[in-house]
Amino acid sequence: MGIDWDGLRAAARDVCARAYAPYSHYPVGAAGLADDGRVVAGCNVENAGYGVTLCAECGLVSALVASGGGRLVAVACVNGAGETIMPCGRCRQLLWEHGGPSMLLDTPQGVLPMTQVLPQAFDEGDLEAVAADA
Ligand code: THU
Repeated sequence: MGIDWDGLRAAARDVCARAYAPYSHYPVGAAGLADDGRVVAGCNVENAGYGVTLCAECGLVSALVASGGGRLVAVACVNGAGETIMPCGRCRQLLWEHGGPSMLLDTPQGVLPMTQVLPQAFDEGDLEAVAADA
């Protein structure tokens, strides 16, 4: 499947315009291509209790699951200036869960596989390894 990176970046910029970021004034938009061709997106949603802020990637993953699930093939995240940004560490873990090692991420250093942006990731395999020992 060919990946329309410009289309994904445009979808991320679109949803970024709907971010709720009254505290940081740092809107983020994230858009992902699912393995059935769907494009799902999310924006950050902040809270007066700063620690419960939802990152844009949380919204993206929720949209993926709520709209039928599947696997993420490619993801792009942008800030309010429309620039590509790296997902925070927690969100890389969220993306790994739903995209796995081969998911491609648009980064300021170009398109990279998840194995390069989250090396030695913890995932279901680690849980299964212990279950198999038991
Ligand atoms: N933010 C995201 O939405 N995704 C990231 O990967 C990095 C940070 C948001 C959280 C907060 O609303 C704002 O950016 C500033 O940290």
